[in-house]
Amino acid sequence: MYEQVSHSLLNEILDELKPEIRRQDLRYFYTRLGANFYAIYSLFHALYGTREDFREKAIKLVEVMASRYIERSAELEAQDKERELNHNWFLNQEWVAMALYADGFAGNLDGLCSRIYYLQELGVNMLHIMPMLLCPEDASDGGYAVSDFRRIDPRVGSLEELQQLGASMRKRGMLLTLDVVVNHTSDEHEWAQKARAGDKKYQDYYYIFPNRDIPDMFEETMPEIFPETSPGNFTYDEEMGQWVMTVFNSFQWDLNYSNPDVFIEMLDVLLFWANQGADILRLDAVAFLWKKIGTTSQNEREAHLILQLMKDCCQVTAPGVLFIAEAIVAPLEIIKYFGEDAVIAKECEIAYNATFMALLWDAMATRNARLLNLGIKSLPNKLDRATWLNYVRCHDDIGLGFDDRDIVAAGYEPFAHRKFLVDYFTGQYEGSDARGQPFGRNEKTGDARISGSLASLAGLENALEAGDEKAIDRAIQRILLLHGMIMSFGGIPLLYYGDDIGTLSDYSYLRDPNKAGDSRWMNRPRIDWEKAERRHQHGTVEQRIFDGIRKMIAARKGIPAFADFNNRELIDLDNPHLFAYLRTHPEQQQSCAVLVVANFDANPQYLELNQIRYRSLYLRGTLQDLHTGEIPRLFNDRLVIPPYRFYWLGHAR
Ligand code: GLC
Repeated sequence: MYEQVSHSLLNEILDELKPEIRRQDLRYFYTRLGANFYAIYSLFHALYGTREDFREKAIKLVEVMASRYIERSAELEAQDKERELNHNWFLNQEWVAMALYADGFAGNLDGLCSRIYYLQELGVNMLHIMPMLLCPEDASDGGYAVSDFRRIDPRVGSLEELQQLGASMRKRGMLLTLDVVVNHTSDEHEWAQKARAGDKKYQDYYYIFPNRDIPDMFEETMPEIFPETSPGNFTYDEEMGQWVMTVFNSFQWDLNYSNPDVFIEMLDVLLFWANQGADILRLDAVAFLWKKIGTTSQNEREAHLILQLMKDCCQVTAPGVLFIAEAIVAPLEIIKYFGEDAVIAKECEIAYNATFMALLWDAMATRNARLLNLGIKSLPNKLDRATWLNYVRCHDDIGLGFDDRDIVAAGYEPFAHRKFLVDYFTGQYEGSDARGQPFGRNEKTGDARISGSLASLAGLENALEAGDEKAIDRAIQRILLLHGMIMSFGGIPLLYYGDDIGTLSDYSYLRDPNKAGDSRWMNRPRIDWEKAERRHQHGTVEQRIFDGIRKMIAARKGIPAFADFNNRELIDLDNPHLFAYLRTHPEQQQSCAVLVVANFDANPQYLELNQIRYRSLYLRGTLQDLHTGEIPRLFNDRLVIPPYRFYWLGHAR
């Protein structure tokens, strides 16, 4: 669309750009800037248009985009163009991701580089390296309290090592994902230190108040994120003698995006990491980017505008780079991070499917798929060119963010049901073999979340301790079942390091006073490579889990119906223990359809095939489980699904 005001501003900006920028060959940059400028202008104006210095800041914004474009390597630029051409490239079923801490996985970046073969052996081709930037040692929040946005913690490695790793991954066709902690900085970041020292410019980077008047107003409606370790949303800074907004930990200062300088600084950081070779940027805690008195200060409209503006600007400088929204919020809110009211994603192309994750754990505890079915049904379809990250575990707690209406519809009372889940996964519930810990218990609201490694939550720790072979078997089946779901649901499966060999919760954090209060450290392990070696020994726990996952990954890559084009149809069944969906490929024949069916119960369950045959002609022939090659048992046209097992049923090959 041609819009006079924005285009005349653009002309002025181009005339006023610094001479060193004007001298460059910026052909592609200008084409993209022209195409995106109306959107960029509108968003920047909606956020900052009332300021007197609006024009000056708009020039600065374009200068940052142009400067980072000039620095972008020829190789990355060529890749940008290729991805513009083939813009749905990431919806393909070939992608399988893993998130890991470089130090926990392999000591440091160098170690990680020499262990890439392991990821390839498993079939992982997308790597999310958890944050590794400089953080205060005693107040790091697992890497999310950053004190320098451009410096890697020297204990983990250097920029050169990261570039080498990136280059080695690119050669192997692997994608690199890096974090950008956009919502806050550590209180030891240079900006915070300057603010503390009284520098007004940097005090305006944060939400800083001389007394409790405004903080108290905010507190009336803002929930607490870490109620046990960091109650409230403000911290009194002795040195400054003022109150700072700290939504997460008291040492994490929230950035104030109503200041355009903050936006421009953080865009610069995003583009910096894009230029270091990141294919995907994970934007941390995006729901919190805008604060407003009288609201929860989550999911505000302006938070979405900020993300749209970041996306539009990134599209000009580094269009091949994708964004992941880390927004662990209510199901109907999560979906908005793809960009509301659009056809194709215009905020983040990828979002964590926290809803599916939590629902899977619900099915595990209740042994039925009632809430899982309802929760997935209430999840609206995604936009085009948008995809989920489907995961079972990550470095954080498991929040029970279901929709209360779905809980009621499933026949439970919301408060009691959430309590049951916490009791179940912390092993308090009679008969539970899970070994998690509560996280973020809030005495005022009764809320709690859950920490613990996948294996320990699935009963493996308990079973191994008891030496109970049957229970070990059951835990392994559960681990594989959960992976079978994230690999077939639609979206990119995101594995978590250690889960592929059944790593138990790590209790060493309890001995470290900086970590002891935060049970999420249970699920941030150091990989035991001797244990990992046992994946080659037939019959070991490690081999059974590793090979199970490896085979699923290999099978997934060959199943076009598992690509993500909103091509999943949930199937209503009479049997509440089963969860089933049909996957088809929009451009391939029905004969490629795959019926996914999972049994969450401890007993075998039956599926009446005639109930679902009408859905796809193809389901009439002989069906084969595509990840094991097995032809499953049929009894009077009923499919028998053993306890905690799943099938990907397709055309027998
Ligand atoms: C994200 C991270 C979490 C961190 C929080 C604050 O939710 O995943 O680990 O504590 O942001 O940065």
